[in-house]
Amino acid sequence: MTARLSKKPIALVAGASDRIGRAMALHLARHGYSIAITYRSNIKGAQESADLISQYSPVVTIPVELGTCNQPDMHSLIKEISCQLEAPVKLIIYSASFFERSNAVDLDYQHLLANFNIHTFAPMLMAQALYHHLQTFPQPAKGNFIAMCDQRVYRRTTTRVAYELSKKSLLEFCRIAALSFADSMRVNTISPGAILQATSETDEEFQRLISKGVPLKCQGSVENILQTLDFLLQCEYLTGVDIPVDGGEHLQG
Ligand SMILES: NC(=O)c1ccc[n+]([C@@H]2O[C@H](COP(=O)([O-])OP(=O)(O)OC[C@H]3O[C@@H](n4cnc5c(N)ncnc54)[C@H](OP(=O)(O)O)[C@@H]3O)[C@@H](O)[C@H]2O)c1
Repeated sequence: MTARLSKKPIALVAGASDRIGRAMALHLARHGYSIAITYRSNIKGAQESADLISQYSPVVTIPVELGTCNQPDMHSLIKEISCQLEAPVKLIIYSASFFERSNAVDLDYQHLLANFNIHTFAPMLMAQALYHHLQTFPQPAKGNFIAMCDQRVYRRTTTRVAYELSKKSLLEFCRIAALSFADSMRVNTISPGAILQATSETDEEFQRLISKGVPLKCQGSVENILQTLDFLLQCEYLTGVDIPVDGGEHLQG
């Protein structure tokens, strides 16, 4: 872990070695946060993220296998980041994910577990750790936990069953957490649709999805996610809400 000292509030973006996580971390760096990013295996990508972010703010990069983190790990992670950057962690964006196919007929237990570990259990423990971290400051300003969900939480599809179930559980947890942690933090979610093509999707699949599944008939942009992030952070009377950023895809049943 490397760091430059800072007193700015810290935003931790979990899963920021590339794509949407990187964009959110960079955006927050430009808007007054010190940044901590986690990644799992993409060292080069994480370094590129850190190089971009460091033009605007101090940054620490931490390799973490979030799928096996337990409660003490999460508490240590947040405490360590706070010590390194000499400020409270005020915001966590949980963006880590993988997007693989599975169907109900031959759903594999290990695949199911891996999905729940990364999409449900790790963000649950991270939100809980943030809550306890905020209690350690005498007069804490409210913190924010924002989890990246998916518009699929409003639908029933049959091709990525473990992914979809684990994201649905995440959404429900975040609503419970919004109630449970309301004295110290707001908890909200963003549910993207067709923003960036997944590596597990072919060009043809992605284009078919946009033409047939997205009512607005166009791909969304990372900028749309950043606009939503800004709104969730600025509107201090919001907690326990999910915002689908999906051109209406969640309406398709
Ligand atoms: N892209 C879209 O259009 C879209 C659509 C719907 C929902 N979403 C949601 O929006 C979020 C961002 O999407 P994205 O496409 O930018 O994400 P992504 O590329 O699929 O994943 C981003 C990050 O997750 C990390 N990660 C994966 N497994 C991990 C593990 N076991 N432990 C720790 N880190 C792990 C990756 O680290 P390494 O690369 O270093 O391994 C990477 O930094 C995700 O939660 C996704 O489900 C995105």
